[in-house]
Amino acid sequence: MTAEKQGRVAGKTALITGAAGGLGEAMAWMLVREGARVALTDVDGDRAQALADAINAEVAGSAFAYAHDVRSEDQWIDVVARAAADMGGMSVLINNAGVGDVLLFSEQDTAENWQRQYEINLRSVMFGCKHAMPHLRAAAPSSIINISSIAGLAGAPGMGAYNATKAGVWMYSKTVALEAAKMEWNVRVNSVHPVFIKTPILDPFIAMAHGDEAKAHERLARGIPLKRIGEPDDVAYAVLYLASDESKFVTGTELKIDGGMLAQ
Ligand SMILES: NC(=O)c1ccc[n+]([C@@H]2O[C@H](COP(=O)([O-])OP(=O)(O)OC[C@H]3O[C@@H](n4cnc5c(N)ncnc54)[C@H](O)[C@@H]3O)[C@@H](O)[C@H]2O)c1
Repeated sequence: MTAEKQGRVAGKTALITGAAGGLGEAMAWMLVREGARVALTDVDGDRAQALADAINAEVAGSAFAYAHDVRSEDQWIDVVARAAADMGGMSVLINNAGVGDVLLFSEQDTAENWQRQYEINLRSVMFGCKHAMPHLRAAAPSSIINISSIAGLAGAPGMGAYNATKAGVWMYSKTVALEAAKMEWNVRVNSVHPVFIKTPILDPFIAMAHGDEAKAHERLARGIPLKRIGEPDDVAYAVLYLASDESKFVTGTELKIDGGMLAQ
């Protein structure tokens, strides 16, 4: 039996944005090892291709790569069509691409900062849901997984644009979930809300600790009841569940991956 016939997402076909590294990379490996094919898109197309090559070396023919800036609707239209053709359909969309904040208090914040985060973190999710939906409907049961943040559910000083865009992802996910349910498309839509996870997005915090990674991680873990920050796999396991048919009665909800942070 091949790997594709086994696994929790056997036969699923998943497009992941911002997939060249960090959480997207962990999701890609997890989904492929559980039987899916993946389309890896990233503004850095070379890194996405390198990851697809590494994955295909382990499970031949399971990964495809595309240069894709999620700010561009034209690129969404093109990439969704090519990915669905290459994978043989699309049953999972993971809107993962995102950028962190520059730690600006409101008095110093700028229109440029808000525009950048709005386009990358939030408007892109609308483009993805819009242009992937026909493919997701055709391949149903399907799942859209939008990567928000605990910063979409709770405020943090100096993170206004990030807070606002991630809260937008959270609420927009509910709207699309209800639309798909109303239309009986069998497409579920949920959001995932990680706390600090060890990826390059935390580099500014390491810089603030003068390059001392362990010290930065220890500082970030202080408010987390489980007393550590997360590993990329902590998020990838949540995505695996939501991508699989195990979550067939779960839509319009938010899944916190936060070591208990927001239980306080
Ligand atoms: N790591 C964390 O602590 C954490 C916590 C909560 C939420 N998140 C969210 O998880 C998602 C993934 O973040 P990560 O931690 O893997 O960060 P990361 O910086 O490691 O990866 C983000 C990826 O997005 C890509 N990207 C950036 N701009 C893009 C664009 N315009 N178009 C397409 N791709 C683009 C980057 O090239 C990069 O590969 C983000 O939405 C982030 O907000 C991360």
